[in-house]
Amino acid sequence: MLYLNYKKVVKYGSEEMSDLIKKALDEVENKKNMVEKDYHRLSYHLMAPSGLINDPNGFSYYDGRYHLFYQWNPFECNHSTKFWGHFTSKDLISWENLLPVLAPEDWYDKNGCYSGSAIEKDGQLILFYTGNVKDDRGNRETYQCLAVSDNGEDFEKLGPVIVNQPEGYTRHFRDPKVWKDGEVYYAVIGAQRENLTGAAALYNSPDMKNWNFLGEIKTDLGNFGYMWECPDYFEINGKGVFIFSPQGIAAEGDRYNNIYQSGYVLGSLDLEKVTLQHNGFHELDRGFDFYAPQTMIDEKGRRIMVAWGGLPEVNYPSEDKGWVHCLTMPRELEIIDGKLVQRPVEEMKKLRKDFVQVKDIFSGKKTYPGIEGDSFEMICRIKSIEAEEFGINLRVGKNEKTVLKYNRIDKKVILDRSSSGESFAEEYGTTRKCSLDSSEIIFHIFMDRSLTEVFINDGAEVFTARIFPDEKSQGIEFFSDGEAEISIKKWNI
Ligand code: FRU
Repeated sequence: MLYLNYKKVVKYGSEEMSDLIKKALDEVENKKNMVEKDYHRLSYHLMAPSGLINDPNGFSYYDGRYHLFYQWNPFECNHSTKFWGHFTSKDLISWENLLPVLAPEDWYDKNGCYSGSAIEKDGQLILFYTGNVKDDRGNRETYQCLAVSDNGEDFEKLGPVIVNQPEGYTRHFRDPKVWKDGEVYYAVIGAQRENLTGAAALYNSPDMKNWNFLGEIKTDLGNFGYMWECPDYFEINGKGVFIFSPQGIAAEGDRYNNIYQSGYVLGSLDLEKVTLQHNGFHELDRGFDFYAPQTMIDEKGRRIMVAWGGLPEVNYPSEDKGWVHCLTMPRELEIIDGKLVQRPVEEMKKLRKDFVQVKDIFSGKKTYPGIEGDSFEMICRIKSIEAEEFGINLRVGKNEKTVLKYNRIDKKVILDRSSSGESFAEEYGTTRKCSLDSSEIIFHIFMDRSLTEVFINDGAEVFTARIFPDEKSQGIEFFSDGEAEISIKKWNI
């Protein structure tokens, strides 16, 4: 439920709307018909009005509203330029797309207002982002910059507060995530060491303007990829969570099959020793299209995460329709039995309509009246009586289906998009799997035309996948190679 609201006139300080922002809005207007006609546009996930959306930025709650900014290239479906677009919402489900708040038009961000975060200070909302600058020879400079607002809509840029990187690191130094501990502001920044391995830097500041480099966060991860993007540190009930998106991790069986990963370690960060004691790295999502997540804590004390429902350097079928990518739905994070668990935020239930329920004992292949569609939520609990493999075919149509299943012998959940529709990114494989040991599986599925998010067993694992089926492929089939008990609840959205 996305409304566009471009009527307000934006001002940077006292200046009128800049030419670059006008140009971006013209582009939205020009592409509007082509973009909005596309069947694969999503019905309840956030997308850019045209062009490319990637990382969620500045996710915050300020002045009675959630603010969710985003990396946006309004002109093309590539990463050539980056604005900060701006969504707001009072309830996490009904969103307004406001005017962009940052445009790459100053000397310190001319090649992109790259990712960053937001925090409230003295009644103002402050954005902390990376200004990306490249010279004619491709040399990069990197500035961590501020922008402030008194109303959460009009932002004034204050320019750089951290210039380039500390010694020992390359200029791949970006994506500040800020939080406050007592009276002190802390920020983690994604970095690359001079030996071309990934790391995260820790800074602190008394006032958000003067920043001290405290050191690289020491971990047990060693050489873990060549760059860490979008780091995020927070605590849930006193337990530390460090999320980051490492690039350059080789595939290992069912793990790390996407071009780049996003994952977490649990532990605790000693802010004085700049040391993170932690356990192993886990991928946050076991599907295909998930990257650069960012979290915030809301006024109800919930830790909520949103990610980019896509990946860098992969081409997607909607690009020739003038738009590409989306954000995932907001997911609430909790730590249960030493694991980060993700669940759709409670508010998603407000989108439910047309309830259908089924209970059955079945084997073979089965369909049920009213259980079909391309925009829905479905909770399907399947308990094996004597089945070894059972699951669901989603978006079934002529020669098309997206297969979600569980194999009790291998103890694996499998998502197969090899016949989902228009193919893409096949060089990274067409199935994703993860281990899970249970005779009963709950598939909690959100389908939104060209995106599905599947929460397995109450958020123990999540699979996100873009799929591009035909509009007519709306069937849902249940299958089991032996007797199984099934209970289905489904709502259209
Ligand atoms: C992650 C990322 C960030 C960067 C931004 C640029 O997807 O590469 O590191 O700030 O995207 O759009």
